[in-house]
Amino acid sequence: MRRTGWALAALVAVGIAGSVFAQGAREISFEEASVLAGGCANCHGPDGRGMPPVPAIAGMAPNAFIARMTDFRADLVPGATIMQRIALGFDDAEIAALARYFAGGWTGAAP
Ligand code: HEC
Repeated sequence: MRRTGWALAALVAVGIAGSVFAQGAREISFEEASVLAGGCANCHGPDGRGMPPVPAIAGMAPNAFIARMTDFRADLVPGATIMQRIALGFDDAEIAALARYFAGGWTGAAP
């Protein structure tokens, strides 16, 4: 019974580690995120504040940002001109970091 308990605990631990990994919980620093975000400014304006007709992305709620980027990546946004190709360049962890960056979630250091 004791043995079974440890085996179960080990299985649960592996399961938790596996799911964290699957969610792309890779650590991305503020510095890395700001490098990733640098290219966005060419079209979205300084700090992503918008440069008409390109929409502002600064201040977007992280969930909406992540949903939009993953939809672009999956080519699910009708009428999108360029973002599908751009979104393909970012994995889940990078999109999450960009979402946090543009939402200003880095203790005021982001836009
Ligand atoms: C070459 C210009 C260009 C670059 C570079 C660019 N974008 Fe975009 N972005 C657009 C355009 C244009 C749209 C409107 C959708 C479309 O036509 O693809 C858009 C739309 C978006 C939207 C949806 C905004 C909304 O309100 O629905 C998000 C989010 C976004 N971009 C994020 C990013 C991020 C993050 C980067 C940098 C990694 C980036 N964009 C780089 C041109 C660009």
